[in-house]
Amino acid sequence: MQNICASRATRNEAALRAGPLQKAPPRGLLVSWVFAVLCLVGMPLAAAEIRADASKPAAAAIASAHPLATEAGHRTLESGGNAFDAAVTVSAVLAVVEPYSSGLGGGGFWLLHRASDGLELMLDGRERAPLAAHRDMYLDGAGNPVSGRSIDGPLAAAIPGQPAALVHLARHYGRLPLEQSLAPAIRLARNGFAVDGHYLRMAQWRLDVLRKSPAAADQFLHANEVPAEGHLLRQPELADTLGALAKQGRKGFYAGPVAEKLVAGVRAAGGIWTLEDLRRYRVAERPPVRGSYRGMTITSAAPPSSGGIVLVEMLNVLAAFDLQSLSPEIRKHLLIEAMRRAYRDRAEYLGDPDFVDMPTPRLLHPFYGRGLARGIRLDRVTASRPPEGLAAGSAGRDTTHFSILDADGNRVAATLSINYPFGSGFVPPGTGVLLNDEMDDFSVRPGVPNVYGLIGGAANAIQPGKRMLSSMTPTFVESDRGVAILGTPGGSRIITMLLHAVLALAEGRGPEAWVEQPRFHHQYLPDEVEFEAGALSPAEMTSLKEKGHVLEPLNRPYGNMQAVYWDRRTGLVSAASDPRGIGTAEVISLPTSLR
Ligand code: GLY
Repeated sequence: MQNICASRATRNEAALRAGPLQKAPPRGLLVSWVFAVLCLVGMPLAAAEIRADASKPAAAAIASAHPLATEAGHRTLESGGNAFDAAVTVSAVLAVVEPYSSGLGGGGFWLLHRASDGLELMLDGRERAPLAAHRDMYLDGAGNPVSGRSIDGPLAAAIPGQPAALVHLARHYGRLPLEQSLAPAIRLARNGFAVDGHYLRMAQWRLDVLRKSPAAADQFLHANEVPAEGHLLRQPELADTLGALAKQGRKGFYAGPVAEKLVAGVRAAGGIWTLEDLRRYRVAERPPVRGSYRGMTITSAAPPSSGGIVLVEMLNVLAAFDLQSLSPEIRKHLLIEAMRRAYRDRAEYLGDPDFVDMPTPRLLHPFYGRGLARGIRLDRVTASRPPEGLAAGSAGRDTTHFSILDADGNRVAATLSINYPFGSGFVPPGTGVLLNDEMDDFSVRPGVPNVYGLIGGAANAIQPGKRMLSSMTPTFVESDRGVAILGTPGGSRIITMLLHAVLALAEGRGPEAWVEQPRFHHQYLPDEVEFEAGALSPAEMTSLKEKGHVLEPLNRPYGNMQAVYWDRRTGLVSAASDPRGIGTAEVISLPTSLR
């Protein structure tokens, strides 16, 4: 059957090549190409025949948070690159066009699946605390956190991991030279791109802090004000730094003139970086976290992200119930109680695996989830116990995500961040590199929440060279039916967004539903259920309140999920970009020579 499809694809190639790129409407689902549909219409398919060719998808696909990044990744695939080359391109373009979300001055996690041998790993490009960092660096003499110190300016910045990760990804997994996969980002940084409404909102939000860094104000503002929509944003110094990385690999960033300017700029403005910090930065390859739910295998982010563990733990709790047979009110109550329990463990146990011992096997064990489920009452909440001094936090729309599948079946799910919108707001002069404020993801003081309202304990305390705990959750979900590649930004709410998506997939719904569905969230503390408009019906709200839940309606949507799905039974590939954002999803037909 697959061969018939393939020959139809070949006949359709001329038309596909001549026509415009197969580009998704800016929002919503993209079902794969015409020929794949033709393969299905009126043809009863023998499952065995389809499964025989199930190792290769009928098309490639990319979903990312920005149209220019999706487009650039598409071109990299067209030039003979694989999913890993496209991931380098998309990461670097997002660094240029979404400076409020991710960048060379930040870090992230790239979850990889290599089709040729089934290798799966998480490339950990998470930032590390500078060697001069210490546990109490954000506290005043009385031991209280100093407002803004872990969020704004160079003292909030950890040592970036994204440049090293891109070099590693290209060298070890890509087919193309780094210079080629970084070229689109360099061009966009040098020639400029038109800023959109979302850029303006983010810049307005961080205007004060951007103004405090003259190099940041030069780069991201116009005459010290938020630029007008459509303003052509050129970043020539960032183009030069990307060029140095492309030519020299990690030495182009972590040593030599770029490193010297980074360190000089940080130190002149009160930061603590040294050349030794940069010289010592290394990415890590880590085995991903695995779990299962209703016949699906979950492969997700490992520590120093809490994402995979918290996701699997929530699913293990929910596996104790037959969710489909329960009323929507009870189902939502159970989801909230599962979230509460998993986020409590996050706060207590999780941190950087190079520094702390974690009870990971126990937390991931299905019996542990069942035990937690036994503690849930169907008629009322289990209250979270707040530590002293707790205050509610908020979650922003920072960070970014993209998902890629290539025509060989290689996959990348990557979530990247500089933490708060526009990170620390600080650019070391002459580098074009906007620095992260990821230090705020450490527990600045046990029990005191970060910008997402997340609390933490000793496991996530600041130590020199340590990676701070993350919520980023790039994920694959796989069964004999198909493979999902997905993730989202959204601070502490990332992991519960993934939970909603996995549950929708388990119900047989497609990527459009995963990215569109209204969401709700609980994270142990603050002890409240945040929800988007439409996430809870009036009857559900009444029932949840009766059980003792505190409901907190949000006046803005959250998240920006990017998802790809390869249905192994039909060969169809689909992709969807969250309607809350400006991203795009493309299903890409490539000439057979590139497949
Ligand atoms: N900075 C957001 C996260 O890593 O979870």
